[in-house]
Amino acid sequence: MLARAMCGIVGYVGTREATPILLAGLRRLEYRGYDSAGIAVCNGEQAHLVRCQGKLAALEKLLAEKSPVGAYGIGHTRWATHGRPSDENAHPHKAGPISVVHNGIVENHVELRERLIASGRVFSSQTDTEVLAHLIDEALQAGAASLVEAVRAALRQVTGAYAIAVLSDRSPNVLVAAKNASPLVLGLGKGEMFIASDAPAILEQTRDMLFLEDGDIAELDHSGARITDLDGNPVVRKPRTVTWTAGQAEKAGYPHFMLKEIHEQPRAVTDTLAGRLLPDSNDAVLEDQEVTPLPSRVVILACGTSYHAGLVGKFLIENIARIPCEVDLASEFRYREPVVGSRDLVVGISQSGETADTLAAVKEARARGARTFAICNVVDSAIPRASDLVLYTRAGPEIGVASTKCFTAQLAALTLLAIHLGRRNGALAGVAATELVAELMQIPHKMSETLKETGDLKALARKYQNVRDFLFLGRGPNYPIALEGALKLKEISYIHAEGYAAGEMKHGPIALIGDGLPVVIIATRGKGYDKVLSNLAEVRAREGQVIAVATKGDTAILDQCEDVLWVPDAPPLLQPMLTVLPLQLLAYAVALARGNDVDQPRNLAKSVTVE
Ligand code: G6P
Repeated sequence: MLARAMCGIVGYVGTREATPILLAGLRRLEYRGYDSAGIAVCNGEQAHLVRCQGKLAALEKLLAEKSPVGAYGIGHTRWATHGRPSDENAHPHKAGPISVVHNGIVENHVELRERLIASGRVFSSQTDTEVLAHLIDEALQAGAASLVEAVRAALRQVTGAYAIAVLSDRSPNVLVAAKNASPLVLGLGKGEMFIASDAPAILEQTRDMLFLEDGDIAELDHSGARITDLDGNPVVRKPRTVTWTAGQAEKAGYPHFMLKEIHEQPRAVTDTLAGRLLPDSNDAVLEDQEVTPLPSRVVILACGTSYHAGLVGKFLIENIARIPCEVDLASEFRYREPVVGSRDLVVGISQSGETADTLAAVKEARARGARTFAICNVVDSAIPRASDLVLYTRAGPEIGVASTKCFTAQLAALTLLAIHLGRRNGALAGVAATELVAELMQIPHKMSETLKETGDLKALARKYQNVRDFLFLGRGPNYPIALEGALKLKEISYIHAEGYAAGEMKHGPIALIGDGLPVVIIATRGKGYDKVLSNLAEVRAREGQVIAVATKGDTAILDQCEDVLWVPDAPPLLQPMLTVLPLQLLAYAVALARGNDVDQPRNLAKSVTVE
């Protein structure tokens, strides 16, 4: 099971004061989310909620003024997916006696909310989580025999991913925890129990842990946990003693955040598509937003890795929606007296949402009358705030400076946008629509397969760690992936690397080939395959060393290259979400072999808020 980095949860039930324990846990979880935080602590009468927008320090300040007293409680640090970061949207969420913290996405929250409102319930936040609190409260009012029974009744109505911790004012010294697709672990203390999104939050308290599995519901009191499934059947899970240090545990056992984030990509793409890609109607919805009127042109603006996602976006939008699309570097666009107007949709792509050049370019386009659309990973950051429409990638916080999971999540978001536009203007219909949506649904699985198959690339890295230059070649939608592969390598290994359109090789870069220059060629099956094979032969003829990224089963390529990195077959437009993976792993392995600081490479910053 891949870790899902979106929000952190803690819980405590025992005999000590809960507040300091929850706070210590949240400090360890802040890397999972940091736009708001909160706790609910109960002394057996009424839960006391303290929550606020901002980093944990803001919550700590509030708690320093008045700290709630009680021996059971829950806490949360948030990374927004639904509803902007604000005091009201911070967890825990309360309905009647119920307090809930949640990590994940309730996919059917819109219909559930409508039903609950129709039955007279009043909502005080925009989150999908508040729906859970109301459902549990409703089940109790309808006569559920216990808190755990009410949680079961509520979860049976929910589709999506969740890890939750629940307490009730009326069930003293009891917590209920449940998990489906988001991680959750129980800590077994002596006369006390802990809940956490992952081990680092509670390592200081206990090393005896019980990892819940999908569909598990646990009822906890100070003496232990009773685990059942959604129907109430008992389930047995074996506790484990965890030997990781807290630092290792934060990275879920991976040596670096970058490697962890590379492996989180199938999950990031799944989450970005969740509830938006509609397989029943072969359509994509953009969170209650419609791009109307349909644009006559799309202009994509971004920097760095996000710019490379934009270049793939051009292929997606032009091929799927048949709308002309231009891609520009934000830093160039803003100073160029750009020609944009009311018939254009200007798409700003940014992981951080704060990149100064992208922000200025989006504002410039808007001032010239264009409709602006943000694709962004940080809810309510500057670029979405400056845009008319927004589609959030749900990659969770990205900590490694070299962007990986945000890139593939951006590709997923751009595919949704292309499908949305194509369905509305009729360019995408019939069998083509059915096939595209079905293929897109397969991508997260194929990504997992690719990561598994590629492995750690240590041997390959040893072979090339001391070279001076690298060349990356690709065609069509894989041309931007050649650029991204080169960018990843130079960012963290400090080896000079260039990405080129394979067809341009003969117009310059061919002069570089010789003396064993490593050339990474994306040579997957599809349009242009034969042409790439000719490029490959040209490199070989000049003593270049070819590392090919090829389609699994393409044995013909084997005797034409030094090394092959395999990816599963996929339609060319969707291949970039696969072909980039071995290139990220290659950059990582080479940087590691050279002894570099992978997560914080020299001179680079995660978010560039200067020009
Ligand atoms: C910096 C980061 C890159 C990123 C670029 C754009 O240079 O190091 O990883 O691609 O900014 O950032 P954005 O947050 O706008 O995607």
